[in-house]
Formats: sequence, C-alpha cells, structure tokens
Amino acid sequence: MGDAVAVWAVVVAAGSGERLGAEHPKAFVAFGDDPLVAASVGALDEHPAVDGIVLVVPEGWEERATFMCDEIGAGKVAVAVAGGPTRSDSVALGVAEVPDDAALILVHDAARPILPAELVDRVLAAFADGADGVVPALELADTVKRVDATGRVVETLPRTELRAVQTPQAFRADVLRRALAAPDRASGTDCASLVERIGGDVRVVAGDARCLKVTTRADLERALELRSA
Ligand code: CTP
Ligand code: MG
Repeated sequence: MGDAVAVWAVVVAAGSGERLGAEHPKAFVAFGDDPLVAASVGALDEHPAVDGIVLVVPEGWEERATFMCDEIGAGKVAVAVAGGPTRSDSVALGVAEVPDDAALILVHDAARPILPAELVDRVLAAFADGADGVVPALELADTVKRVDATGRVVETLPRTELRAVQTPQAFRADVLRRALAAPDRASGTDCASLVERIGGDVRVVAGDARCLKVTTRADLERALELRSA
C-alpha cells in the first residue's frame, strides 16, 4: 500500500494491570527510564508509514500521557483520551478520535513495548491484496486442548491450524468502525474477532517473538532484556 494512504495508530493503554499488581496502571510502570507505554508510542512515532497516533489511557491519566509524549518527542500523537471498562471499549473510544480520512487503523497494545519496525511493515504490506484486516501471529509450541468445567479434556486441537495472535492489528478504517459498533463488542478479546464476526476477511502474517505482552513482573524483566539485546 502506497504512502498516499493515511495510516493512524491507536495505542490502547487504559488497562489497570491487575496481574502485574504495580501501584500505577500497567502502561505507566517504569520500563527503563520511561513509562512502559513510551516504548511502543515511540516506535510508532518513528515509523514512516504512521501518520498519526491516538493514545488511550486510564481516566485521570490523560495529562500525564500528553506530558510523556512531549518528553519523548512523539509529535504524531494527536490526543490522549480516557479508555473504557473493556479493551474493546478503549479501542472504540480511540478510534472515535481518528480522523475520517484515515484509510487504515493499526491497533496496538501498550502492554507490548517491543515493536520492531519490520513487524509494522509486514502487517501493512499484507493489505496489498484486499484484506479487511491483518494480524501478526505466532505458531504454537504447546499442544492446546479444549477442556470442560470439570477439567475433562473434550478435544485436542490440531496445532498446525492454531496461531497465537499479537498486535499491532491493522484494519480498513471503515470495517473496524463497523465492527466496533456491535452491541456485544465487549466479548471480543481482540479487534480481529469483532471484524471476523461481521464477515471481514482477516489474514495473518508472521508475528515477532520479541513483541511479547507484558502481563506479569517476569514478562516485564524479559521485555527489558529483549530491549537491551
Ligand atoms: N486495555 C485498555 N482498556 C481496558 C483493558 C485493557 O486499553 N479496559 C489495554 C491494556 O492497557 C493493554 C491491552 O489492552 O495495553 C491488553 O490488555 P491486558 O494485557 O489485559 O492489560 P490490563 O487489562 O491492564 O492487565 P490485567 O488484565 O492484568 O488487568
Ligand atoms: Mg486485561
């Protein structure tokens, strides 16, 4: 897709980070010298294909987020807005701030601080043949089983058909806006699942193991190691 197409990024950072259990929301815990969210915002800001960024933060953190963007020189961040109770709500609130002329919207988790430029390139390049959405995905190392509430195995899923998906996930802006308008959007654990529900054509490209999601303290340590590697 050529440079003429406007590409915006929505960085969702409005979660509380319960499993990390820090005193700040997860996006604002220290990651080296900056808050965690600064790493992915900085990577998107530096990426030549990204025209603008909307940052979605916990209510009450908007000003600190704006200050942080100034501090790191992330000039593409247009606005920092408060998120909602679920990830899907936060994405929808962010997408509402994206200008109408954006053709593609990248949605990225602030909880994934390591965002290699080539991962963004790979996701955007896959739009060339008419997809509605493109998501980065990794093959699974473990076998996955479906189990019932009593812990009995119901079935073993064919591993070669399974993928663990990451962000950034990119979508045609009109399709993403339509998918987010669904009344039951809160039940979608990623944006792609909402686009799938309205019949969207979602493709996968190779993910990047460095783009791990920080959930626990150990993940935070691992991400710091990866960054300095
Ligand atoms: N997120 C968000 N708004 C929410 C919930 C999540 O913007 N209401 C964002 C998080 O900030 C994070 C991403 O979605 O960048 C993935 O969510 P997750 O890793 O689950 O983060 P938290 O919800 O903050 O963590 P936890 O589930 O441990 O509370
Ligand atoms: Mg969560």
